[in-house]
Amino acid sequence: MPGRTALPAWKALAAHADAFANTHLRDLFGSDPERGERLTVEAAGWYFDYSKNRVADDTLRLLVDLADACGLRARIETMWRGEKINSTEQRAALHVALRASAGEKFIVDGEDVVPEVHATLARMADFSERVRSGAWRGFTGKPIRAIVNIGIGGSDLGPVMACEALRHYSRRDLVFRFVSNVDGTDFCEAIRDLDPAQTVFVVSSKTFTTQETLANARAARAWLLRALGEECAVGRHFVAVSTNAAEVAKFGIDPANMFGFRDWVGGRFSMDSAIGLSTMLAVGADNFRAMLGGFHAMDAHFRNAPFAHNLPVLHALLSVWNANFLGVESVAILPYDQYLKRFPAYLQQLVMESNGKQDTQHGERTDYATSPVFWGEPGTNGQHSFFQLLHQGTRRVACDFIGVRESLNPLGDQHELLLANLIAQTEALAFGKTAAQVRAEGSPERLVPHRTFDGNRPSNVLLAERITPASLGALVALYEHSVFVQGVIWDIDSFDQWGVELGKQLAARIVPELHDSNAPLAHDSSTNALIRRLRKT
Ligand code: F6P
Repeated sequence: MPGRTALPAWKALAAHADAFANTHLRDLFGSDPERGERLTVEAAGWYFDYSKNRVADDTLRLLVDLADACGLRARIETMWRGEKINSTEQRAALHVALRASAGEKFIVDGEDVVPEVHATLARMADFSERVRSGAWRGFTGKPIRAIVNIGIGGSDLGPVMACEALRHYSRRDLVFRFVSNVDGTDFCEAIRDLDPAQTVFVVSSKTFTTQETLANARAARAWLLRALGEECAVGRHFVAVSTNAAEVAKFGIDPANMFGFRDWVGGRFSMDSAIGLSTMLAVGADNFRAMLGGFHAMDAHFRNAPFAHNLPVLHALLSVWNANFLGVESVAILPYDQYLKRFPAYLQQLVMESNGKQDTQHGERTDYATSPVFWGEPGTNGQHSFFQLLHQGTRRVACDFIGVRESLNPLGDQHELLLANLIAQTEALAFGKTAAQVRAEGSPERLVPHRTFDGNRPSNVLLAERITPASLGALVALYEHSVFVQGVIWDIDSFDQWGVELGKQLAARIVPELHDSNAPLAHDSSTNALIRRLRKT
């Protein structure tokens, strides 16, 4: 297959983008009164309005042509068949099997993995129920009051985000804490007010070799043993979530207290696997299963809907259009719902660890941009911070606005205020305000440029009825599939993460050099000087 930029569909989009350069969203809406209702799609409880993107019907047709030319349909089926689409690590990427219903079949290396997924879910539900009901007792016989998840990256961000998003559905009499950073402050602050006799640690690590997680898990064990005295207390206060039973046992956690998953679940695609144990402890097994139902509904839509009406596919193709043809370099994720406050952080890993890559899966350097930078904050807070740049900055940023019609905490008219702001921001970004409008408002002439808004800045709107376990699951699945589709278009392996390795190797070399003041240093002069400055003695 020719390189992406040599594909006729890519060239057609490039030519179309040139011809389209001076088209403003004002013109697109002006010439089509139905646009705001027409360029929308609904799936799995989410309404997606993409009309405020700089696209015409031709653009969408050409983008679907590009998806076809990149073999997207076949790649989706390859994923569903459990083939090793993570080519550099020779692994399947079968997170869709984690939310399969009992009768479905997903085959990896000749084995149907669904029964094991359901068996693990049943064990998680049993453990969660015992902790939540007080039947699971700590070493001294007291019930558990605090759950501390120790993990990092995909073993932290998904559970943190989900526990926050579903706080409304969670057990308020249990305390949930998340420790990720190797900075001792994270652990010390997390346990400061906890009673070891009433605390359970969930050590979450796919590999169970991650430096930060093991350091924090060792600190947790030491803290527990200082209070409870006996090594056998560990069994009542530690459980593990991992693919690596041998390392779990080596750490001293009884394999009977381990919840497993397989290497075909990528870390950043794992919040609905056993890695979701702390989420299940917070919201209960029924809510966790409802969340899986939301994932599954979006999966079914993604697999079956034609691309022109497929929410994750359209979301991905618009992202490619913005990034590769309109020069958009970053995407702001703007949840207008406080419960989704950690969603931007969660997406940063999902998107950038997946698609922040410069080589195709065949090892050739791309001659096109891949993932934009993702970042964001909840609205309306962001409006009083970085929205200035979104409206009048020289850099182009695409925005995803996420909102819900019904608040879980209605407070006077505050939800209407929140929603009015969401809608107003998309309107302002798209249509701006002309100099003529500013003058008509009586502005002094010297301030006219400052009060003018060019508009024509792209945004998506995603709306659900309310935050529920199911709507959260569908939202996450939407972004998972969008990430995959973008990776297919860019011909990259979205499921590996080689770019995190070099820093880990270098840190391992520097640790003993920091400990030993006499260790000879053979780095560059800056690195040597930094090590000397930060040595203990
Ligand atoms: O360093 C990156 C990474 O490998 C992520 O991909 C992963 O989510 C995270 O570290 C944690 O890994 P583990 O779950 O194996 O501890």
